[in-house]
Amino acid sequence: MKEYKKLLLSNKAWAAERLELDATYFDNLSKEQNPLFLWIGCADSRVPAEEITHADPGDIFVHRNVANMVVHTDINLLSVLQYAVEVLEVKHIIVCGHYNCGGVKAAMTNHDFGLINKWLRNIKEVYEKHFTELHNIDDEQLRFNKLVELNVAEQIQNLAKTTIVQKAWQKRQFPHLHGWVFDIHHGQIKEVLNINAGEWTSPVFHYDF
Ligand code: CO
Repeated sequence: MKEYKKLLLSNKAWAAERLELDATYFDNLSKEQNPLFLWIGCADSRVPAEEITHADPGDIFVHRNVANMVVHTDINLLSVLQYAVEVLEVKHIIVCGHYNCGGVKAAMTNHDFGLINKWLRNIKEVYEKHFTELHNIDDEQLRFNKLVELNVAEQIQNLAKTTIVQKAWQKRQFPHLHGWVFDIHHGQIKEVLNINAGEWTSPVFHYDF
């Protein structure tokens, strides 16, 4: 069987199963979405947001890119963020990285990867910022793990630097920000950094509204 046909067949089985459990399932699902969470995760196939959190359709608004980055010039990310915060009014934003992230690994090398260098540069900036701290760690795998964690913390702060998030904090005291790392070796999520709404400020990135 062609590989993609297996996906279509599985979809049919999934839809039938849902209907069997609840005949009104898709009628309700089609009406509206009211997710509490925005998930910014890595595009890696091994880290599916809903699967690893046992969430259902409708629970999580999802954006994924290489190495779960919050890049202030990325119109795709910013559009997702604005919609999630201002229209859906999500209560929490989660940035979820993962150990053995290929994007982070690539950024730690000196290889020329072509076009994706431009994207990896954002991770390289985090690497350079913490270069001394990271190179005090002798073990290569532990150093790699540490950069995955530092990168998540940096992206959480990038969210806090946006006017979208700061305006929401002033208006409705959420969303709260959560930096997580999925440990691909045992399936559990580690909390790296939490910032409650309004509990972050910077003399440089604070905006007056
Ligand atoms: Co990754």
